[in-house]
Amino acid sequence: MSVCLVTGGAGFIGSHIVDALLARGDRVRVLDNLSTGRLENLSAAMEKIEFVEGDIRDEATAQKVAEGVDFVFHLAAMVSVPKSMEKPAEAESVNTIGTLNVLTAARAAGVRRLIFSSTCAVYGDEPTLPKTETMPPRPQSPYAISKLAAEAYCQLFNESFGLETVVLRYFNVFGPRQDPSSPYSGVISIFVERMTKGVAPTIFGDGEQTRDFVFVEDVVRANLLASETPNAAGKIFNVGTGRQVSINHLFKSLADVLRRELSPRYGPPRPGDISHSCASPALANTVLGWSAQISFEEGLRRLTTGVVPE
Ligand code: UD1
Repeated sequence: MSVCLVTGGAGFIGSHIVDALLARGDRVRVLDNLSTGRLENLSAAMEKIEFVEGDIRDEATAQKVAEGVDFVFHLAAMVSVPKSMEKPAEAESVNTIGTLNVLTAARAAGVRRLIFSSTCAVYGDEPTLPKTETMPPRPQSPYAISKLAAEAYCQLFNESFGLETVVLRYFNVFGPRQDPSSPYSGVISIFVERMTKGVAPTIFGDGEQTRDFVFVEDVVRANLLASETPNAAGKIFNVGTGRQVSINHLFKSLADVLRRELSPRYGPPRPGDISHSCASPALANTVLGWSAQISFEEGLRRLTTGVVPE
C-alpha cells in the first residue's frame, strides 16, 4: 500500500485517479482549492480519503500535504486555453509557480515519484502529425507556455534534485464529471449538455479543426502505469489515441448517440486555438505498455448513458 497525494483531486480527471488509487488499496490525500474542482466528484470517495482544501501556491500547505507521501499525482491547474489568454499571469502563477512549489515540497518530503499532468498544447500549431515527444515545442498560448515551463521544472528535479518525475502530455480528455458549466469547459461536455436539452451548440471556426479525444479511464491507467514503471522516470509521454476527430464529426456523432436532429451554429474561430492535434502514442506503448482501449464512439456511449432518451 502506498500513500498518494492527488493535487486537483476534486477535478474531472483527478477525481477519477482518486477512485482508481482507492480501488488498488492505496491511502489517498487530496489537495484542491475548489476553484474549478467540485466536492461532488469525490462523493463516493470522501469517507475514505483525507481532503485538504488549499492552494498549490501556498508553501506551508504544499509542505504539509506532501509529508509521508510516496507518489504525487499533480493535476491542480488552470486548464483552459481561452482563460489563459485573458489571464496570462494567473496561468503562469498556478501552472508554473504552483508546480514548482509542489515539486519543492515533494522533494523535501522524500516523495518517490511525481506524475505531472501536462498537455499536448505545448506542441502548438507545428503542422507535423502525429505529434511525437521529441518534436520542438511551439507553445502559442499562456496556458501552453506555463505547462511547458512546468515540464522543464519536472525534468530539472528528476535530473538534478533527486526527485523522480514523469510528464504526461494529455490530448483532449473527455468523460463523466467534466464540468460543462463554464465557457472554458471542454467541448464534449459543452456539446452534450446543450444537445441533451435540444439546444444547438456553437462550433468555433469552420469545425474542421481536429482533436485527439482520449477517454478519462485510459488517462487514469496511464497515470498508474507512469507511477509503477521503473524506467519511466525522467520521461515525457503523449497520452492520446492516435486518431484525429474534427469538431464537425464530433457534433454528428453526438447527434447520433443522443438521437437529436439539430444543426450546429458556427461562430468565429477562438483565439489561441490550434488547428490540428493528434498523438503518436508509440513511446507510451513501448515504455509504459499503455495504449488507449476505449474508442471515441465507445467513450461517447459511456458518457451519454442515462441521458439518451429511450
Ligand atoms: C483542451 C483542454 C486543455 C488541454 C488541451 C490539449 C479543456 C477545457 N481544455 O484544450 O486542458 O491541455 O485540450 O489540447 O478541456 N469548441 C467549439 N465550441 C465550443 C467549445 C470548443 O467549437 O463550445 C472547439 C474549440 O474551438 C477547439 C475544440 O473545440 O477547436 C476543442 O476545444 P476545448 O475542448 O476547449 O479544448 P482545447 O482548447 O483543445
